Amino acid sequence: MTNEAQLAAIKKFSFDKMSGDATGHNFDHIQRVIKTAKRILQTEDADPLITLAAAYLHDVADDKLVDDPAALEHEIKEFLLSIDFSEEQVDEVLYIIHNLSFSKSLSKNPPKLSLAGQIVQDSDRLDAIGAIGIIRAIYYGGAHAETIYDPTIEPRQSMNKAEYRNLNNETIINHFYEKLLKLTAMMNTPTAKKIAEKRHQYMLDFLDEFKAEWDAEK
Ligand code: ADP
Ligand code: NI
Repeated sequence: MTNEAQLAAIKKFSFDKMSGDATGHNFDHIQRVIKTAKRILQTEDADPLITLAAAYLHDVADDKLVDDPAALEHEIKEFLLSIDFSEEQVDEVLYIIHNLSFSKSLSKNPPKLSLAGQIVQDSDRLDAIGAIGIIRAIYYGGAHAETIYDPTIEPRQSMNKAEYRNLNNETIINHFYEKLLKLTAMMNTPTAKKIAEKRHQYMLDFLDEFKAEWDAEK
C-alpha cells in the first residue's frame, strides 16, 4: 500500500468516527489540523506519514468523547495494522495521540513527544486559538450550557480536574485564561509559534473589546 493510499484510508476511518460530534470536534477540526500540520511539515524534518496519521486520529479516542478510550485505541491499532503499518509505526502514532493533551503537558512529568508528535500538538493547539479558537470556545460553551462571563471569578488561571468536569462552574471567557492564552508559549516549533503570536493578539483584542462593551465603555 502506498503512503497516499494509507492516508486516504485513515482519513475515511477518522471521518466515520468523528463526523457525528457536535462539540467542536467534528471533522472540520480534523481537516484544519491536517492543513496546519502540512504547513508546519514544510519547515520541519518529521515523518509525514506518522504526523498526518496521528493528526487524523488524535481525537478519535479522546476520553471526553468516548466512554472507553482503551477500546478505541485497540481499534485504531488493529485498523493501522490492517493497512500495513508496522508495529513500530502503530506504537509511534498511539503514543502521540495518547500524550498530546493540554492536561498531560501541565503534569509534573510532561511526556516527551517526537517531532511528529510536536507538530500534531502544535496544529491541534493552533486550532484552539485565534478567530477559530474563539468560535470553538463559544460553540463548546453553548453546547455545555456554560455562562458567558462572570467578572467575579475571572481571570481564574486553573481548576482542578473535578472542577473542570463541573462545567457549570466554568465560563466561556474564563476558558481563555485557563487554557487558550497559555497555548502560545507552549508551542513546540518556530513556525507554529509565529502563527500563534498573531492569533494570540487577536484573542487579547477580542477580550479587551468584550470587557469594554460589558462595562458599557464602548
Ligand atoms: P482539542 O483536543 O481538539 O483541542 P478540546 O476537547 O480540549 O479539544 O476542546 C474542544 C474545543 O472546545 C477547543 O477549542 C477548546 O478550547 C474548547 N473548550 C474546551 N473546554 C471548554 C470550556 N470549558 N469552555 C469553553 N470552551 C472549551
Ligand atoms: Ni483536537
